Amino acid sequence: MSESDVQEGHRFPAPEQLAAQANVGADVYAEAERDRLAFWESAARRLSWAQEWDQVLDWSNPPFAKWFVGGKLNIAYNCVDRHVEDGHGEQVAYHWEGEPGDTRTITYAQLKDEVCKAANALLELGVQAGDRVAVYMPMIPEAVVAMLACARIGAVHMVVFGGFSSDALASRITDSGAVVVVTSDGGYRRGAPSALKPAVDEAVARTDSVRNVLVVRRTEQDVEWTEGRDLWWHDVVDRQSTEHTPEAFDAEHPLYIMYTSGTTAKPKGILHTSGGYLTQVAYSHWASFDLKPDTDVFWTSADIGWVTGHSYIVYGPLANRATSIMYEGTPETPHRGRWFEIIEKYGVTILYTAPTVIRTFMKWGEDVPAGFDLSSLRVLGSVGEPINPEAWLWYHKNIGGGRCPIVDTWWQTETGAHMINPLPGVTDLKPGSAQTPFPGISAKVVDDEGNELGDDTTGLLVLTEPWPSMLRTIWGDDDRYVDTYWSRFGTEVYFAGDGAKKDDDGDIWLLGRVDDVMNVSGHRISTTEVESSLVAHPAVAEAAVVGASDPTTGQGIVAFVILRGSAEDSGDELVQTLRTHVARDIGPIAKPRQIMVVQELPKTRSGKIMRRLLRDIAENRELGDVTTLTDSSVMNLIKDKLPANSSSED
Ligand code: WTA
Repeated sequence: MSESDVQEGHRFPAPEQLAAQANVGADVYAEAERDRLAFWESAARRLSWAQEWDQVLDWSNPPFAKWFVGGKLNIAYNCVDRHVEDGHGEQVAYHWEGEPGDTRTITYAQLKDEVCKAANALLELGVQAGDRVAVYMPMIPEAVVAMLACARIGAVHMVVFGGFSSDALASRITDSGAVVVVTSDGGYRRGAPSALKPAVDEAVARTDSVRNVLVVRRTEQDVEWTEGRDLWWHDVVDRQSTEHTPEAFDAEHPLYIMYTSGTTAKPKGILHTSGGYLTQVAYSHWASFDLKPDTDVFWTSADIGWVTGHSYIVYGPLANRATSIMYEGTPETPHRGRWFEIIEKYGVTILYTAPTVIRTFMKWGEDVPAGFDLSSLRVLGSVGEPINPEAWLWYHKNIGGGRCPIVDTWWQTETGAHMINPLPGVTDLKPGSAQTPFPGISAKVVDDEGNELGDDTTGLLVLTEPWPSMLRTIWGDDDRYVDTYWSRFGTEVYFAGDGAKKDDDGDIWLLGRVDDVMNVSGHRISTTEVESSLVAHPAVAEAAVVGASDPTTGQGIVAFVILRGSAEDSGDELVQTLRTHVARDIGPIAKPRQIMVVQELPKTRSGKIMRRLLRDIAENRELGDVTTLTDSSVMNLIKDKLPANSSSED
């Protein structure tokens, strides 16, 4: 990478051949501008509806939106059956690759049979439309089958990332009232089987809504068994009929709940519904990646436990009849070239991943990708956090061979689908900027009062028109839905929680969260959630947590703790105990990178912890303004406690 490449202003025009054959051209923006609702209506017509809608959007009671009012469809039918009926049953839906090297190839016809069998099994277990089903799974095909089986019968899936603790699972089961949990004995991670069933056993013991636990056999680990409650997937699903007639559900029928961190300790159950969600994930997947169903091999490297997995491993790709890759394990198992080996083996043409992974590859060096044939790639994607220009250029050169556009997609669990991103056959790319609101999306940068800001001024990102795949509410908490997203600037303006600015060309640059949410390796973790976990430990009296910038993970979790007088130890051992405690309590992704034991925390006169100052310390910066502190000597006390470099790796 040359110096001039990273200079502000360097553009990467859309490759000519791609632009000539792209699914969408520049005119799409004007079309959507002319009539936003007609644009989304034509996107909805890419799906198969059992009944037409009477009204595209009902926004008469903001912020509660209804899209495609009166329309009916079956999501699983749209993702699977219709492709089989159209003669594409033999097309591969998923090339699945297990971490140990075992593989499975699943065609659309096979997927249809599996989904029907699982749907029949759920019905046999008494699951009805509207019931919630928890899915706590490794990255195996049955995770997708379980999700689609729920969608098929109108049950609401609630997938919990397999890396979350039993506590996190229990609170999500309780909040959603799940009646069945689908899980597995375990999955493979870093070369070894990693158990899942014990966490389910612990979680279910502390909840009272779950009737059955359906267990897929993957690792053949020993599992505890509760007779009457636990059932093997192969016992119950395999004997079912491969026929199941899909029922059409209302466009606003709930499809899934996905919990995400907010600014308080209690995660929010983001609710997505059917017609609008599938319309936008399918259309965006097709337009943002220029997906060609007959020739592309598409790979989203995320886990199914996150929204990226829901929208761009499951619903978008299947609705578009894509052939996708699904990989169970970690990038460095059994060697650092594993991903590149998969790209070469399956001829992957589109890769969608996260900046933190790119930066890890950068650390490992360009020799690793250079050892594989990556010439099949034609479009690259990025999601999860801003991609810094250095990582963008490295990705472009060393993975994309200098020829693949990089589509940096800004969106959220709440938005359901891409909201701000370039289009690969249209946009002149600018490394580091997500650039342009998606066609049919209206995004602005405003000040604290909601006034739109001029170029190059940092402000808050808002969305000023409803969109089809928007969240409909927070499960069971309409008030929190309104308060969190639609109160700062009135009930018709969505507050995203991200800082942003527009440059002289009107391109949007995302600048990270403006609330107490950290972004660690693209995962949202709330500072308050980690703080409550720390103070729940008997040794801790008070805790303050900040996200400090980190060269690989974007942000790293740094905690400052004040110990109780009764705590016997304040040394390294306790710090390790506390880190493990948080990892156990929330999940390994929430394990603090660093914990500092301090005597006091900097507070404003009104008693609010000044996280900004703590972040300065954690990042070893000059301290910012300390004039509003109750006692500015507190900062010196804290600084004196700091070892020269106290970060710990693992
Ligand atoms: C951040 C993941 C900059 C942002 C799909 C957002 C990004 C939060 C980008 C949502 C991007 C995601 N550029 N920031 N391309 N993508 N973010 O809900 O702060 O896990 O609010 O959804 O991640 O994270 P979530």
